[in-house]
Amino acid sequence: MKPPPALLTRGLALVLALACAGIAPASGGGAGGGRWDVLQRSIGVSAMHMQLLHNDRVIIFDRTDFGPSNLSLPDGRCRRNPRERVLPVDCTAHSAEYDVASNTFRPLSVFTDTWCSSGTVAPDGTLVQTGGWNDGYRNVRAMRACDGGDDDDGGSCDWNETQDALAANRWYATNQVLPDGRAFIVGGRRQFNYEFFPKADASDASAIALPFLVQTRDPEENNLYPFVHLNIDGNLFIFAKNRAVLLDYRKNKIVRTYPELAGGDPRNYPSSGSSVLLPLKPSPTEAEVLVCGGAPAGSYNSTKEKTFFPALVTCGRIKITDASPAWVIERMPSPRVMGDMILLPNGAEVAIINGAMDGTAGWEAASTPAYAPVMYRPDHAPGDRFEEQSATDIARLYHSAAILLRDGRVLVGGSNPHIYYNFSNVRYPTELSLEAFSPEYLDSSNDALRPKITDPSPAGPAVSVKYGQSMTLQFEVPAVAPRRRPRGGGEGGGGALGLVSVTMVAPSFTTHSFAMNQRLLLLDVAGTTALHSTAGAGAGAYEASVAMPAKAVLAPPGYYMVFVVNGHIPSEGVWVHIE
Ligand SMILES: *[C@@H]1O[C@H](CO)[C@@H](O)[C@H](O)[C@H]1NC(C)=O
Ligand SMILES: *[C@@H]1O[C@H](CO)[C@@H](O)[C@H](O)[C@H]1NC(C)=O
Ligand SMILES: *[C@@H]1O[C@H](CO)[C@@H](O)[C@H](O)[C@H]1NC(C)=O
Ligand SMILES: *[C@@H]1O[C@H](CO)[C@@H](O)[C@H](O)[C@H]1NC(C)=O
Repeated sequence: MKPPPALLTRGLALVLALACAGIAPASGGGAGGGRWDVLQRSIGVSAMHMQLLHNDRVIIFDRTDFGPSNLSLPDGRCRRNPRERVLPVDCTAHSAEYDVASNTFRPLSVFTDTWCSSGTVAPDGTLVQTGGWNDGYRNVRAMRACDGGDDDDGGSCDWNETQDALAANRWYATNQVLPDGRAFIVGGRRQFNYEFFPKADASDASAIALPFLVQTRDPEENNLYPFVHLNIDGNLFIFAKNRAVLLDYRKNKIVRTYPELAGGDPRNYPSSGSSVLLPLKPSPTEAEVLVCGGAPAGSYNSTKEKTFFPALVTCGRIKITDASPAWVIERMPSPRVMGDMILLPNGAEVAIINGAMDGTAGWEAASTPAYAPVMYRPDHAPGDRFEEQSATDIARLYHSAAILLRDGRVLVGGSNPHIYYNFSNVRYPTELSLEAFSPEYLDSSNDALRPKITDPSPAGPAVSVKYGQSMTLQFEVPAVAPRRRPRGGGEGGGGALGLVSVTMVAPSFTTHSFAMNQRLLLLDVAGTTALHSTAGAGAGAYEASVAMPAKAVLAPPGYYMVFVVNGHIPSEGVWVHIE
């Protein structure tokens, strides 16, 4: 008899864990590309939700009903809230601001419950968080990108909560920023509807019914945190369970129903797979969505009996702009549930990171962590797209998150598969650490190829750009990268020597295995002039004119990171603000 696949994958995980603990250097390593570094052993709160702002600080929060965190509120401040279920007087923080450059953090104050909520960044760069649980169901909380140190708030800015600003309870809802800068907020537990924020009239308490969420509901509720992507035609692609529709939210009309993702297995919370809108080509005429992982129907119920089914090993990829779209199924090297999918700035790779190989999302609902990220290269030939990367030794299970940083690393945090913070006598203790996964392109062996943007300065403030205008970028290329990718990131429309491309990335609000608002556009490089050339082989300094997206349906207004990419190696990014 063959051993069941679950045992095989468990064995593999054990080998990886041992390799990491025993042989690899402290900073990670092992087989496969990329490396891991622990940035902080504890930031005091568990990174359930993460958002990078344009001040290179990451806003992190978990939930107020976890019990006391390991981070005190400053100045003896306490939260006194009779509606709080666990600690009516809590003098600890449930949110923190992490400063990437200095690798430091400070406590922030959320006063009502942010558990399993959602968010977008408004066009002015303010994080707008929506919903939560209990006393936080319908609240909206705003967090500005404060400068710290020398601005007038002295870096002490904090959350600003507005009570009952939403029309419906939003617990496990998804947000997508719209071309007009508002947030589209959809679903949540027992919410088969959507709404917008901000509202033209603050007293507007209307939520618009979305029967699709009733149709995709199953007994395990495997359609929470639906995957939402803004299509290039301005409509919203919404995926729930194993089905997808295209919603014209202006007319409240389903304009398209996609075929079911084969197999029928659910892909949304608690059977949490993940999803991305794949990188958009310059002036795009097509858009593709990728959905990976998840858990078979019945998995969630089985975890109650401590039976952990192997997670789904398949991905589905679909051209959502096609006249007759069809899902194409691909197989990952290993099964994964609760993975995060992060678009890397080279426009050529998607990191599938965090999560487990069995079980589902939920308390105590998985047993085999997926320690090794997998790279997906969308432009490679089918069958040659996935590659397993080097493994961490820290389990990132339920309530973990990942986001892209401007320096090209992926910041990873969180994991708390327990109902409260629990650091002892449990197999996978609550994780308060932050780690960085540095993809292979950051290896020092690539330093000789790494492009560098010199103007605007990566250390400077965000550059303002307008739709359809061009932006001037000066950059240096130490040597031209060999063309490794068949038709990957290097197709930016004829950059320096036809090899350098430019990408523009919207930072995501990541929680529960979905990076909301994540978006990557390859930009047209209209003209490249050599400022000086140091060697014959194209090395030197260049000035390029880069065409910004023509309209807000391609890139909603707000802050983006712009990268120059040499072959598949991205520069450090610069912040731009488009409106
Ligand atoms: C958090 O604080 C508790 C109680 O003081 C302690 O036992 C635990 O080790 C701390 N955990 C981390 C990760 O710092
Ligand atoms: C907090 O938000 C409210 C409502 O949006 C706004 O009127 C107020 O000015 C904000 N306060 C601060 C300190 O930003
Ligand atoms: C899961 O459990 C619920 C509640 O006990 C039950 O209603 C449902 O039928 C079960 N679903 C599956 C897929 O087993
Ligand atoms: C942590 O988990 C252990 C083992 O299940 C349990 O005995 C303990 O009560 C838990 N502690 C908390 C604070 O939940």
